[in-house]
Amino acid sequence: MNSDHIQLKKSIVSLLIQKKILVSDELIHVLNDPELLERLGKEVTSADFDVNLVFQWVAKKEKIPTVLFNPLEVVFSYKDIPRKRECRDFVSYLNARYEALQKMLQQRQELQGLTSISRVLEKKDKDTLAVIAMVNTKEYTKQGNLILTVEDPTGMIKVLVNKTKQDLFTLANDLVLDEVVGIIGKTGDRIIFANAIIFPDVPLTKELKKGPDDVYAIFLSDVHVGSKYFLRENLERFIRWISGEEGTDEQKAIASKIGYVFVVGDLIDGVGIYPGQENELLIKDVKDQYAEFAKIFSGIPHHIKLIICPGNHDAVRLSEPQLELYHEFAQPLWDMPNAVLVTNPALINIARAPDFPGFDILVYHGYSFDYYASHVGGIRNNGGYERGDLIMKFLLQRRHLAPTHTSTLYIPDIEKDALIIHKVPDIFATGHIHKSAVANYRNITLISGSCWQSTTAFQEKVGHKPEPCKVPIVNLKTRHVTVLNFGDEQGYERGGEE
Ligand SMILES: [Fe+2]
Ligand SMILES: [Fe+2]
Repeated sequence: MNSDHIQLKKSIVSLLIQKKILVSDELIHVLNDPELLERLGKEVTSADFDVNLVFQWVAKKEKIPTVLFNPLEVVFSYKDIPRKRECRDFVSYLNARYEALQKMLQQRQELQGLTSISRVLEKKDKDTLAVIAMVNTKEYTKQGNLILTVEDPTGMIKVLVNKTKQDLFTLANDLVLDEVVGIIGKTGDRIIFANAIIFPDVPLTKELKKGPDDVYAIFLSDVHVGSKYFLRENLERFIRWISGEEGTDEQKAIASKIGYVFVVGDLIDGVGIYPGQENELLIKDVKDQYAEFAKIFSGIPHHIKLIICPGNHDAVRLSEPQLELYHEFAQPLWDMPNAVLVTNPALINIARAPDFPGFDILVYHGYSFDYYASHVGGIRNNGGYERGDLIMKFLLQRRHLAPTHTSTLYIPDIEKDALIIHKVPDIFATGHIHKSAVANYRNITLISGSCWQSTTAFQEKVGHKPEPCKVPIVNLKTRHVTVLNFGDEQGYERGGEE
């Protein structure tokens, strides 16, 4: 047995011990035979060794329930390199963003005859062409037409969108500052008369992936532990259900197949988040709030992976990308054996199997949502803040989690814009609006978690109507989404289904 064999054997055995799994003589025989072990290695992985895949192979042979091993890989979680930020970093940051989105748009067939703005400005005769540009200003003329100023690295130009082109005008009305789009139009004297606007968007051809195993993923957010409005009893009921202690037989059967629980930000209510908050806190120290969160969530069975990202109430910097929760404040969470702490945003791959690539889950708390709910007519006039799904769709079309400079606080990373949606996810999960929403956009499941906090005085004042204690749950084999209700009125009754 060479060192590779020993390593492979060790990894498998330690995983089996960790999961408290007894195995058959046949498997012991495989593990002790270098040749069989090598064959096993080759069968499950062609290029590089992946203990997760080997373990799944073993589990299948041994008929171990799939839910006991829940493969997870953090594809993207932001790595911060502390350095002094300067004003010109914002310029480099916007350039990096432009280039990344430009690459996406260049793939689009509609954008033939692509040219730069400096070339358009030199043109004498009328011509149809296309540019990729960032929106700088947006104004309406006296006649009600829309005038944009757009910019690329070579220059700036005005774009006129005529109100008589109704579909285009509706689309252009919802453009936001700093977003990058393709514009097709006819040239005039230092102006483009727009005929079409193309968004980076997600492809139409994305398949609706379905996993091989009967495993479920749950999406929670906005727990707000520490607040006097925190709905502890309802959350505890959820914990009893997921532990298999409560619910009908059917509900218990689902609970036993849950492999993943995501918590998409605002774990605690925090301290000093808004004026007068101290009067609304039961626990006034963030460390104690996190300790309480960890105490409650440690009731979730440990074979279930618990993926956690911060939100604007958590005790990390507000600027995005928000880093993983600090050890200093949230050590009890780091100590949980099944917790995976990531940044906001982050991309996580779950449920990968030997013949299945797994699902990519994009998590983003949603601090930028307030801006788009109020600034985009198409969202504002169709339910606004209540419609997390419309906001998510809007951001996927822009391939950016906060396209407008002022829509969120962010750290200008000059190398890479971490808020760009580089990889198209299978599931886009958010929180922040305290109301669960489920939708499908081009085979991407959009999920907004609800909350575990009743209506606060502030929400009452601004007219937000939270819907607490809803639990969206995705069957990864069928991709059906069910919303369980742990609220007082309806007990365990089902809410909506996709
Ligand atoms: Fe929240
Ligand atoms: Fe929030």
